[in-house]
Amino acid sequence: MSILIAPSILSADFAKLAEEVKLVEKAGADWIHVDVMDGHFVPNITIGPAVVKSLKRHTSLPLDVHLMITDPLKYAEPFVKAGAWGITFHVEAVKDPSAVIAEIKRLGAKPGLSIKPKTPASSVIPFLKDINVVLVMTVEPGFGGQAFMADMLPKIKELSSVIKSNKYDCRIEVDGGIDAKTGQLTASAGARVLVAGNSIFGAPNPAAMVKTLKKITA
Ligand code: DX5
Ligand code: ZN
Repeated sequence: MSILIAPSILSADFAKLAEEVKLVEKAGADWIHVDVMDGHFVPNITIGPAVVKSLKRHTSLPLDVHLMITDPLKYAEPFVKAGAWGITFHVEAVKDPSAVIAEIKRLGAKPGLSIKPKTPASSVIPFLKDINVVLVMTVEPGFGGQAFMADMLPKIKELSSVIKSNKYDCRIEVDGGIDAKTGQLTASAGARVLVAGNSIFGAPNPAAMVKTLKKITA
């Protein structure tokens, strides 16, 4: 399975998102990662469905929406209607992840489940058979530009082994502090989608960085 690159627009210039997204699309990015924060589940506020709707008009790449919000069941629909291709929510945010997964599928989008650094792999294992991606946070969610937590590598390996042994159709996505070095480390541990914000949009040449990340192999 090849490694997919999902630039996170959190580190892009929000005043020229269309240009930023076109730039990474042209450079070979696979998905566009959209970080949604509500100031409640995480201590930061970012974007809502209106921005997704506008972005959708400027890219043909799948919009990979990462909901860091308290009520994903309520907001899945507006984001899918706005053009989200995938909706990933946090296992820590809800009592019944299956109900949210079912709702995302009903809406015609790809479901994903995310786990924070302190949450064990066991909390998502029962749902791996039903989701498109499991998003392992490699920083505490809330802000871009934080340092990669190397102690997440065993969690990635554990999930990878469960996915492989059961032949689940689920990719491991990693998010937080991903650059060429940590991208290679996580890919070797089993990650198949690399989210990268600061290392791409904070680089002097974001397109060159996308191309560098695209060369990472498992
Ligand atoms: C953090 C977000 C990430 C963030 C990653 O809460 O979920 O997607 O944009 O940014 P970098 O790559 O800068 O760590
Ligand atoms: Zn994210």
